[in-house]
Amino acid sequence: MKHIAKVLTLSAISLALGACSTGLDKSRNLGNPAVSGNTLAQQVCSICHGEVGSNVNGNSVNPTFPNLAGQQKDYLVAEMTEFHEHTRKDPAAQDMMWGIARNFTPKQIEELATYYSKQPTRANPNPVNPALAAEGAKIFNEGNLDKGVPACMGCHGSNAEGNGPIPRLAGQHQDYLYKQLMAFNSDEMVEEKENNNAKDDDLERPHGVAMEGIAHGLDDHQKHAVAAYLQTLK
Ligand code: HEC
Ligand code: HEC
Repeated sequence: MKHIAKVLTLSAISLALGACSTGLDKSRNLGNPAVSGNTLAQQVCSICHGEVGSNVNGNSVNPTFPNLAGQQKDYLVAEMTEFHEHTRKDPAAQDMMWGIARNFTPKQIEELATYYSKQPTRANPNPVNPALAAEGAKIFNEGNLDKGVPACMGCHGSNAEGNGPIPRLAGQHQDYLYKQLMAFNSDEMVEEKENNNAKDDDLERPHGVAMEGIAHGLDDHQKHAVAAYLQTLK
């Protein structure tokens, strides 16, 4: 009886680990440097950033999880490296991405970035308020010159397609974009408070210096508006 119980427990464990025991090409093992980036993308990342086995990999429906499909490769490398090194530390990054990126090797980061930068994008299926998006279009194309905010398109591209280390924003979830604008905004406030002597350690996105003053120069409504507009772009 005791023996049977043991066998049953063991088989339950091997069922739970099933994905790992069927070989490296199906591995979910984030601690094994031999697992390729493509396998991790399909077996692990797609749980949040897309759907396994579907043609919408890297295009998530849930706005908590940013789209990665068609993102600039250099930007993806930079963010994954920042999660791995704990430099990007907005709360959701700490909660969700630090653990996942803990054992990333430079080779896996390179493969993951290549994989996602090549996934086809699609129109964001979630609704936006059209009047709000129209206000956002003006900010994106013209900036908010009263507050010294330059046009977003000047860096992110006329269709928000991004360029190298500057991220693609087109079709990204408005909630995620708004949350990041708040992260850059809080970095600016930390720096102001500390009389511009803030250490990088204090900032949520220390490599987002280009965005700090910009986020600070948009009020809450304007942040929501530009985020809504960006979600409508394809
Ligand atoms: C448990 C859910 C979850 C899983 C699994 C997951 N992520 Fe994430 N990921 C998130 C969340 C949430 C964010 C947004 C963090 C934030 O708001 O700062 C994110 C952000 C990112 C970003 C930054 C996107 C941007 O626009 O800045 C990249 C790159 C990324 N993840 C890559 C990956 C890769 C590669 C994997 C698989 C190895 C993976 N993620 C697995 C939840 C997840
Ligand atoms: C001077 C160039 C520049 C301008 C102008 C600019 N950005 Fe950015 N933006 C960047 C860079 C560089 C990053 C990447 C920051 C990082 O690596 O943390 C970024 C990142 C972002 C992100 C985070 C995206 C993500 O996936 O996490 C958002 C949102 C954003 N910008 C929105 C805007 C909006 C809205 C405007 C206009 C009001 C704007 N940007 C204008 C350079 C710029």
